[in-house]
Amino acid sequence: MAVTKTLLIINGPNLTMLGRREPTIYGSETFDDLQNYCREEARKRGYLAEMFQSNSEGEIVTRLNRAMQGKYSGIIINPAAYTHYSYAIYDALLMLSVPKIEVHLSNIYNREAFRSNSVTAGACDRQIFGRGFASYADAMDAITMILAEREKEN
Ligand code: DQA
Repeated sequence: MAVTKTLLIINGPNLTMLGRREPTIYGSETFDDLQNYCREEARKRGYLAEMFQSNSEGEIVTRLNRAMQGKYSGIIINPAAYTHYSYAIYDALLMLSVPKIEVHLSNIYNREAFRSNSVTAGACDRQIFGRGFASYADAMDAITMILAEREKEN
């Protein structure tokens, strides 16, 4: 029987406010809608999505440290504002060897200057931005591609 691969999907601060938060930038859909979208898009691709959200940097670091146990085939992370200054999340990502994709709903390169700098992207395999919810589905496809490339190499 095929074993379902699990993806860890981490969302950082303020993302639970989707729908009410700057709708012209983030749209009118809610965080629940995003979670349902991720679960469904993962299912379509043969993955199980494990969702984690926290407004706290330390909790995100602890969750990433726990992921070292090797349960996941890949990690998708939207570190939200921590993207731009968290060396702790950068370090926690760096020690994980599974494919890691940083995602953003908005185009971070088209907004305030501070958003154009991502500290955490340097510890990820790819960065996907500006596609709304589809950024997460694209990240799943990127993980599938990276896993296939790695399998070929072995
Ligand atoms: C975000 C972009 C970040 O700059 C911002 O702080 C967020 C959301 C995005 O998904 O577009 O909270 O990560």
